[in-house]
Amino acid sequence: MQIATALAHSNIAFIKYWGNRDDALRLPVNGSISMNLDGLDTVTTVRFDPSLGADRFALDGTWETGEKRERVSAQLDLLRALAGVDTRAKVLSENNFPQGTGIASSASAFSALTLAASSALGLELNEAALSRLARRGSGSASRSIPGGFVEWYLGKAEEDSYAESFAPPDHWDLVDLVAIVSREHKAVGSTGGHPLAPTSPLQQARIADTPRRLDRCRTAIFERDFGTFASVIEQDTLVMHSVMMTSEPSLMYWEPDTLRIMQQVRLWRDEGLPAAFTIDAGPNVHVMTLAPHSAELQARLAALPGVETVRHASAGGPARLLAEHLAPPRSA
Ligand code: DP6
Repeated sequence: MQIATALAHSNIAFIKYWGNRDDALRLPVNGSISMNLDGLDTVTTVRFDPSLGADRFALDGTWETGEKRERVSAQLDLLRALAGVDTRAKVLSENNFPQGTGIASSASAFSALTLAASSALGLELNEAALSRLARRGSGSASRSIPGGFVEWYLGKAEEDSYAESFAPPDHWDLVDLVAIVSREHKAVGSTGGHPLAPTSPLQQARIADTPRRLDRCRTAIFERDFGTFASVIEQDTLVMHSVMMTSEPSLMYWEPDTLRIMQQVRLWRDEGLPAAFTIDAGPNVHVMTLAPHSAELQARLAALPGVETVRHASAGGPARLLAEHLAPPRSA
């Protein structure tokens, strides 16, 4: 029996991935930059078992049968092909944060799955190879393989579109305060959203300007320059959401509470508090700050109307293997 368990963190993109030049291979139209989120984790156990007729997948204690299992199976197929085996697997996965609300569960999920499955199969893959494979399951998962502050390269071809760390977690004491305004599952997830990106008249302009935003963001992180960082991440979020809102059909992820938090964050910054927003494909607002100010800001965010809860995460390390395996749900 071949078994392995891996833990991967979610990540928050500062320069966002939105749109693919190849949807099947998940080759992006632009490079992206992110930070791993310590404590927002997926743990996944993969057990290859010759007695199984089909892959089985349990998420947070419930056996899944539909699209979710298919996507896991497709990812396992890539790894089975590399290992030259056909054995089916039982996959157990647990998240410690809600799914489908703008905290990227697919990033930590496909990163943990890729690391656990490749290890269970005895494949010896370096970090770039793991990141490339994780990318095939979910684009943002490529960025949850390396640790700390990470850049996913646009690449010229399949082989060179992978993510690499450019600064370790302790390089800068940035904190992500995730203001959760809704736990409802979003209508159109990112996988459904990427193919709509080219229908927006703004997407070409977004892509053309991305190298400039990547440079500004990378430099701001290197230099720990919060002012420049705040301005570039807010601009990047607004450019991506402008594309989303103007695609056909139009995608509107913001709720009134989302906009209220964005405006409040700017007022706090005007007062001198380091605070800047970034928002993925959902209504929640990730408020970036620096560790000495995070308790104050967390209390202020939690007191805003419409904010259900605030999660706190600092920069996290790379995906890693664990010695303990998850137990299957009772109905197994
Ligand atoms: C808005 O990586 O979730 O969070 O590749 O289809 O799984 P799939 O999409 P996904 O897209 C992430 C979109 C984003 C921006 C980002 O994380 O870069």
